[in-house]
Amino acid sequence: AIDIAKLRDQTGYITIDAGYKNTGATKSAITFLDGEEGILNYRGYSIEDLAEKSSFLEVAYLLIYGELPTEKQFADFEHAIRTHTLVNEDMRKIFEGFPVNAHPMGVLSSLVSAMSAFYPETFDTNTEEITELHIIRLLSKLPTIATWSYKKSQGHPVNYPQNDLDYCSNFLNMMFSLPVAKYNVDPVVSAALNKLLILHADHEQNCSTSTVRLVGSSHANIYSSISSGISALWGPLHGGANQEVIEMLEAIKNDGGDVQKYIDMAKDKSSGFRLFGFGHRVYKNFDPRARIIKKAADDVLNKLGINDPVLEIAQKLEKAALEDEYFVSRKLYPNVDFYSGIIYRALGIPTNMFTVMFAIGRLPGWIAQWKEMRLNKEPIGRPRQIYTGAPKRDFVPMSER
Ligand code: ACO
Repeated sequence: AIDIAKLRDQTGYITIDAGYKNTGATKSAITFLDGEEGILNYRGYSIEDLAEKSSFLEVAYLLIYGELPTEKQFADFEHAIRTHTLVNEDMRKIFEGFPVNAHPMGVLSSLVSAMSAFYPETFDTNTEEITELHIIRLLSKLPTIATWSYKKSQGHPVNYPQNDLDYCSNFLNMMFSLPVAKYNVDPVVSAALNKLLILHADHEQNCSTSTVRLVGSSHANIYSSISSGISALWGPLHGGANQEVIEMLEAIKNDGGDVQKYIDMAKDKSSGFRLFGFGHRVYKNFDPRARIIKKAADDVLNKLGINDPVLEIAQKLEKAALEDEYFVSRKLYPNVDFYSGIIYRALGIPTNMFTVMFAIGRLPGWIAQWKEMRLNKEPIGRPRQIYTGAPKRDFVPMSER
């Protein structure tokens, strides 16, 4: 048993809050979240309004600079992004060394980290112009790099950016255009993508964002900080859940569509199985993003005339879970990732790219949070611990062990 009095003598008072369930790490003026009421606002604007009326790039500007842009500010921002979409050809050489079946998240975090070697200019936040350039580079190049993995997996040549296209259309074009067949960006598809990216753009101190802030708090450069965020996002309990959701829904479909069997398995702790896309650390009522996304999934599938049996399984699973005492009593509702994969599938994006899509969406949030942390001159993050290991003991030479 832990001797609390002795511990206090040794370490002073330390709060243990595994998983930071009730510990604030910072003050932030970026995103407001009320998990009980299901409210999410970026810089004071509701997620519902932004998803309906704004574009992803405008939301990125809002998050990073704090205000909605004027026409001139937006035009300058968009122009800067358009003129930095090309990625250094030497980065391609690094990329070409990855195996063809490398997970696109591993490739993305590696190449973003590599950007710090290609753009080593000072990362001093006092040199605002240079920091701005790093920010623009990240926003412009991430979609280009992301499409490389897909192209390679298909055995196709990569596409160069086409800067007369807007941000989302440019991404879609780089993904799906072929030298032998031009891809025409469907406005329904690009609108859906805008909406999905907006919904993912920030979510206050989640695991990946906290990682970005913590890494950045040592004054590590922005590329390394964002690369760490991408790695944190990859985990199946965080951004990786969107890939897991679709794989789970497909497994249920291929197993005869018996949703109850999977619900029962998720309730059985010894199974080690969880219903992916259900539950959230903060939302204990509903996830407002899930509501918007559910409607968007219906709209997109209708407009594109797609009949996806996996959507039907998702709806059955949601209904059955929401009627089940286990899920109701634990306030486990579908989260943003439950329906996002269904839209990504409809847009033609392969399952292993889902978490990459999340990363593209979350990038402005990570940048805004990194910038806020640096501008507020936050101290280096350094949690404490309570030691539970062996008491002091004498070293025993190897021959005597
Ligand atoms: N399926 C079955 N049971 C669950 C699930 C689930 N998806 N989620 C939580 N539970 C249960 C837990 O077993 C626990 O039960 P208990 O009280 O009987 O022990 C209770 O609900 C509380 O769960 P915790 O794990 O303590 O909740 P926490 O806040 O730590 O975890 C998390 C939140 C990680 C999202 C969790 O709900 C989960 O693993 N969900 C599935 C993965 C997922 O969808 N992740 C995406 C999150 S959203 C995002 O990153 C964008």
